[in-house]
Amino acid sequence: MPSESPPRDRILIVDDEENVLHFLSRVLEDEGYGVETARTAAEVRTRDWEVPLDLAIIDLRLQPGEDGISLLQMVRERAPETSAVLMTAYGSIESAVAAMRAGAYDYVTKPFRAEEILKVVAKALEQRRLQREVWRLRREVERRYSFANLIGKSPAMQELFHQIEQVAASRGTVLVSGESGTGKELVARAIHYNSPRRSGPFVVIDCAAIPETLQESELFGHAKGAFTGAVGIKRGLFEEADGGTLFLDEVGELRPPTQATLLRVLQDGSFRRVGDTRTLRVDVRVIAATNKDLAEAVRTGQFREDLFYRLKVVPIHLPPLRERREDIPLLADHFLQHSVAQARAEVRRITPQGLDLLLRYPWPGNVRELENTIERALLFCDGEAIGPEHLPPEVRQSTEAIRVGLPHDSLDLRLALDRAGREVESDLIRRALDRSRGNRTQAARLLGISRRALLYKLKEMAGQTRGEPIPNGKWKTDSRQLTADHDRASQERGQ
Ligand SMILES: Nc1ncnc2c1ncn2[C@@H]1O[C@H](COP(=O)(O)OP(=O)(O)OP(=O)(O)O)[C@@H](O)[C@H]1O
Ligand SMILES: [Mg+2]
Repeated sequence: MPSESPPRDRILIVDDEENVLHFLSRVLEDEGYGVETARTAAEVRTRDWEVPLDLAIIDLRLQPGEDGISLLQMVRERAPETSAVLMTAYGSIESAVAAMRAGAYDYVTKPFRAEEILKVVAKALEQRRLQREVWRLRREVERRYSFANLIGKSPAMQELFHQIEQVAASRGTVLVSGESGTGKELVARAIHYNSPRRSGPFVVIDCAAIPETLQESELFGHAKGAFTGAVGIKRGLFEEADGGTLFLDEVGELRPPTQATLLRVLQDGSFRRVGDTRTLRVDVRVIAATNKDLAEAVRTGQFREDLFYRLKVVPIHLPPLRERREDIPLLADHFLQHSVAQARAEVRRITPQGLDLLLRYPWPGNVRELENTIERALLFCDGEAIGPEHLPPEVRQSTEAIRVGLPHDSLDLRLALDRAGREVESDLIRRALDRSRGNRTQAARLLGISRRALLYKLKEMAGQTRGEPIPNGKWKTDSRQLTADHDRASQERGQ
């Protein structure tokens, strides 16, 4: 009987030097990894991509005309979840930095020792597992805090999901109120698609968008010749929505005669087409929405009081985003993942500083504004994280000093989402400092960033590694770091 062995991590090695391929294959196979080798980019291209790949170890300098970085990009395109390690010649830290920018997890400097590459491989695979775990968590969190396409973990949103579930089953008219961009239409859809009428039509009409004189014929249809321009018979939206749901957006914009007709339909389900004598009967559930204060419109006589009460059999209020800020990280991440998938961008996360600004800004345009902001930030972002520099000035300059009491688990999510990326960065910085023997100016130059930026990042790192202050100018040498070990390494490789 064939026994099930645990799946081995699969590693692809690309190098045009036969002895490197040989040496690496032996070392990795001895360790129990599944190994594939390739000498050229063409070989990699024609690989069977159905076979999962956990890690690619790619030589930076391949045959003339091929380079490891574009090969790495190709691998990441075909198998986005693959981790990658680049092999570089000693001294070419610029290309190592480029490799990291292209998404490599790490790089090793040739020549290297067996134990060194094994350590790097183990770490890269571990990071990949962590990344997958983050993705899994992300999906899990989204699932837990979402309902239909609505996302939110604030008590107000959780209560809303509960309310939607309850009202979906009934036929009661729902009045959804809330500022512009708070998700009123999404709520209407969620109700429809969770109701027994989900297989019926969901018809939307924006009452503000039709000319006042056409409101009634749009809603209820008209007979032939009912008015100038009414050349044929027209079915209204109530008929279109028969068996389903009619969403009356901006219901406050209906003029008084239309309000009167609507009231009648809501009371007994029957109406006449404009200019027609026949009474029609339909089975329609009405969901109305408004971003105006309808009660105020009733007081000032612009909206019928009886219709107001008839509409709000089930009132649902969507609070503005600034009153449920704990939804911001989830929503921002949701829009980021969504737009990234569409744009095939590399951006994976929002930096803590970026998120901090998003949390402070008052969002007058609510969720829609947040969605647009993330989409725009993606256009400006050429790295892997959205930071303050990618956000519009009004968000960046928001001085509102609101400290949000985020519940503990959402903070954990923030950290989880952030950790993977930060580790790579810290590692790179450590190596640069190691090379420059602690000289920060030189390290900054190696990294291609300003000294100020480096100091800032070091401060950040110091804050993250609690109780482990950044040593001043002196760095413990990482055992992976090759500086004096060349000869021994070459001997091991039989060179
Ligand atoms: N809770 C949410 N989860 C996910 N996406 C949301 C949420 N709320 C709103 N959105 C998104 O924000 C945008 C605006 O939502 P929607 O159109 O439902 O708002 P609205 O209240 O109808 O706005 P308006 O009053 O301007 O018509 C949409 O793209 C919607 O998908
Ligand atoms: Mg709307």
